[in-house]
Amino acid sequence: MGKFFILDQVTYCYPGSEKTGVCQVNLALKAGEFLAVLGANGSGKSTLARLCCGLLKPTSGQVLVDGFSTSKEEDLCEIYQQVGMVFQHPDNQFVASTVETEVAFGLENRTLSSQEIRAAVDEGLTYFHLDDLKTAEPHYLSGGEKRLLSLADLWVLKPKLLLLDEPLAMLDPGARKRINLRLEELRAAGQTIIWFTHSLEEVMAADQVMVMANGRMVWLGSPLELLRLPEQARAWGVSLPPVSQLALDLGISNPGLINLNELVSEIWKLI
Ligand SMILES: Nc1ncnc2c1ncn2[C@@H]1O[C@H](COP(=O)(O)OP(=O)(O)O)[C@@H](O)[C@H]1O
Ligand SMILES: [Mg+2]
Repeated sequence: MGKFFILDQVTYCYPGSEKTGVCQVNLALKAGEFLAVLGANGSGKSTLARLCCGLLKPTSGQVLVDGFSTSKEEDLCEIYQQVGMVFQHPDNQFVASTVETEVAFGLENRTLSSQEIRAAVDEGLTYFHLDDLKTAEPHYLSGGEKRLLSLADLWVLKPKLLLLDEPLAMLDPGARKRINLRLEELRAAGQTIIWFTHSLEEVMAADQVMVMANGRMVWLGSPLELLRLPEQARAWGVSLPPVSQLALDLGISNPGLINLNELVSEIWKLI
């Protein structure tokens, strides 16, 4: 299968800033792939996410979605139809005064009948468990509900590529679990995903992991391979799964790949 999404030597400098936001990133993604982009705060993840959806245009290099370039004005309409982004702060994304009109908003720019829009909105609300909140005001929802709403907004538009910028940040454990379950279902259904985060634990199911530092791609491999480099991962500002983190702090050999039972028996040996 051909590559559906390509970053070709993508560089971005914020106007007036001396530091490069993103520097010469290359990447190719097949349809259905799940890529994780990991890195410390300020490493360039959100800048790269905005470049991937066409919100920012590369200073040099190209972002290609299904052959369409974000640098070409005439290609943007197609790109906006194919790429959906869940922002780090969902509040900035909401435009309507109720949950159901919010989910309908994006669909109203498509050539659909009102019955088709109604059916798609109902399906989206049910899929993301928002039925009971249909008439609620988006800004008054809880953090987890806002996240579900921003996913529902995009899901009804059926984007080919879904970009998730820290989708689990600032959620309580119950909400994280609910959102994670929905995201697992989307992946199982073949959704192409790029998930930006600093937490390796969140993206252990990824096909590929790319690590960023100072705007550059510094490593590419599988989640398990990164877990085999726990010291390096930590130096890049990647947070490790808690069991690996504890094993590393205790100086246990091969700390990245340890499971909880092994950790407990190692701790017994230490005391
Ligand atoms: N609007 C902006 N103007 C100037 N510099 C910015 C802007 N947004 C981000 N940056 C800088 O770009 C770098 C990457 O930031 P960002 O992409 O937000 O990183 P991350 O999402 O990994 O925390 C940082 O040095 C940050 O200060
Ligand atoms: Mg960010």
